[in-house]
Amino acid sequence: MQLKIQKTILLLVAVIISLTLNAKEGMYLPMLLKKINASDMQAMGMRITAEEIYSVNQASLKDAIVHFGGGCTAELVSEKGLLLTNHHCGYRSIQKHSTIEHDYLTDGFWAKSLEEELPNDGLTATILQRMEDVTAQVLAGIKPEMDEKERQELMDKNIKKLTQTDDNSKFHLVEIKAFYYGNQYILMESIVFYDVRLVGSPPSNIGKFGGDTDNWMWPRHTGDFSVFRIYADKDNNPADYSKENTPYKPKKHLKISLQGYQPEDFTMVFGYPGTTQEYLPSAAIQTIVEVVNPFKIDLRRQKLDIMAEQMDKDPKIRIQYSAKYAGVANGWKKWIGENRGIKRLNTIQNKRIEEKEFALWARDHGYGDLIQELNTLYEQLRPYELAASYFFEAGYYQDIIRFAYSFQTVAKFSGKKEIDQEKFQLAVKSLKGSIKGFYKDFDIDVEKNLLNATISAYTKFPETTIPIPSTIAPLKSKNQEEIDEWIDKMFSKSIFADEAKLANFIENYSSGKFKTIQKDPVYQLALSYYQNYFDHIMNPLLNYQSQIDVLMRKYMQAQIEINAGQYLFPDANSTLRVSYGKVENYEPRDGVIYNYFTTLEGIIEKENPEIYDYVVEEKLKQLYISKDYGRYADADGSMHTCFIASNHTSGGNSGSPVLNAEGHLIGLNFDRNWEGTMSDLDYDPNQCRNITVDIRYCLFIIDKFAGAQHLIEEMDIID
Ligand code: ARG
Ligand code: GLU
Repeated sequence: MQLKIQKTILLLVAVIISLTLNAKEGMYLPMLLKKINASDMQAMGMRITAEEIYSVNQASLKDAIVHFGGGCTAELVSEKGLLLTNHHCGYRSIQKHSTIEHDYLTDGFWAKSLEEELPNDGLTATILQRMEDVTAQVLAGIKPEMDEKERQELMDKNIKKLTQTDDNSKFHLVEIKAFYYGNQYILMESIVFYDVRLVGSPPSNIGKFGGDTDNWMWPRHTGDFSVFRIYADKDNNPADYSKENTPYKPKKHLKISLQGYQPEDFTMVFGYPGTTQEYLPSAAIQTIVEVVNPFKIDLRRQKLDIMAEQMDKDPKIRIQYSAKYAGVANGWKKWIGENRGIKRLNTIQNKRIEEKEFALWARDHGYGDLIQELNTLYEQLRPYELAASYFFEAGYYQDIIRFAYSFQTVAKFSGKKEIDQEKFQLAVKSLKGSIKGFYKDFDIDVEKNLLNATISAYTKFPETTIPIPSTIAPLKSKNQEEIDEWIDKMFSKSIFADEAKLANFIENYSSGKFKTIQKDPVYQLALSYYQNYFDHIMNPLLNYQSQIDVLMRKYMQAQIEINAGQYLFPDANSTLRVSYGKVENYEPRDGVIYNYFTTLEGIIEKENPEIYDYVVEEKLKQLYISKDYGRYADADGSMHTCFIASNHTSGGNSGSPVLNAEGHLIGLNFDRNWEGTMSDLDYDPNQCRNITVDIRYCLFIIDKFAGAQHLIEEMDIID
């Protein structure tokens, strides 16, 4: 969404009108659909009402939408708490249950009965109960002459009052989220389930078919789904895991349609998009695409090469690093697409032109030199943003760094004579509990190579005024071999090199032993990374950022004012949203048209037993040959795998239900196309498509491939 200036509005009206019929930018608040979007949605073909989507008084579709693990979306599809989400959203859980002997990642997993469903420590399922605009209450008493500190303190007080309830347990969540950079506040009340079990997952060469090669790309053939179940206590309330818990009975579950879709059909996506930044000024976009993204892309490429080399050689390492690899690869590829898209759309130039016009308007409307001030601050912020990226990409995301640093929780007690025994024991216990999990997915050679790459990169940090961590500063002039030697030496003297040693050390830990941790070279490395961040980066970063926040609040307010009469959708902020659009082709390049759906045919076409990402299961091939698709075949006789539509989605929308005009489930959202990944910053209705796995393909896999008919029987399927 670009800032639209009055003068250009007239010109744009024609364009906007023609676009509404095709593609819809924006992710909208369910509680405002009735007022803002319903008639538009119905004009585009929707046949249900806004109340059927969101209501607080009666069961509505929103009661079937789940925030899954905080980072994905899932949906309830049966009376017994059955959940569908993406394979990549369940990936960590599937991976954690996987070993060489029970390799669920490779072979898939299907619980044959409730008893066989696998609990997942730490996994949550959150269901929104209601949302309410509380802007007036949050801003009560705020006066224009107040300084920011006073303003914030009063707001904090107001927010505290508003979020106090009779039930402040972890099962009942009341939070207030800022919208439009603090121009609007909305209260979200949810219930949180902690007993969420793994029910089924296809093998990776279905659930992750195409892997990171096809990730963020269309045409796509990924069966990106997995199945979980929410359990509740005997009164159907959220509870911690217990054997006694029984399947949750939801207020609403989604009906599933086997009807498929045609081009131009209405679709909507209901889920939890994480972050978009559609209203940023050009200077901020410049930091992202010209400074931060290039560094991250380059370093991640190196990390990926290192992991891939060892994963290819050793199946154990493949399991250990598969989730880590996928995480690194996902960001890497997205940012490449984002940079290309921003360039192609000419976003920075376009925003600059608009900002010039805005500056004139602003002066006459009491906003002063807002753009100039923002530009200055973003320039001052830039080196610190880059420094923070160095800390995160070359430090924090390095698992060994984060793990070693976690020992600071016990080491810090030990210098003191008087220690709080209870807290101390708790810290020791938590470390004890983390060791096994950490080393399950740790290979020292891979880790050493990764460290080499990240240290080499860190020593090349271009900003001279911000120091790099003291431990690695002396390595600035060293070559790769010398750094290798340095790393080898460090590990040879470290307890972190040996799981058994470390476990033993912590098993018999007493506060007098803190020196062993403090003197450990890996611990020292980790500490120096964090210390450097705390001492030289964090405060300036926060300081500039908070000044920017104040200006962005005003800038956003101005953008709303300029666009008076035209509703601007709020940026995504991990709150429940509805996006809507149509099933549509697109033209990625001159002369090329991408069709809106793919089929099993394409899987067979892509098959290559030599390449991990393109291995096809024998059984799937047999089903293809015998065309045994049952009722899941499309009217054209083929097995549709994925389809695209013009719904505006973002990270966090993974696993979101894609619904048809009747509000029935037709697929699970799992990705965007590469040409469209800049949509977090700038949406292009011609290029941006969300990618969905066809629900009929998921059911076909569950039924025909996995033979888990009991799950099919549980669901509400409309032929
Ligand atoms: N790109 C999708 C998303 O952002 C899928 C990521 C998981 N898949 C993968 N091959 N890494 O989450
Ligand atoms: N794969 C993304 C996720 O995990 C969704 C795709 C996107 O970013 O649009 O949320």
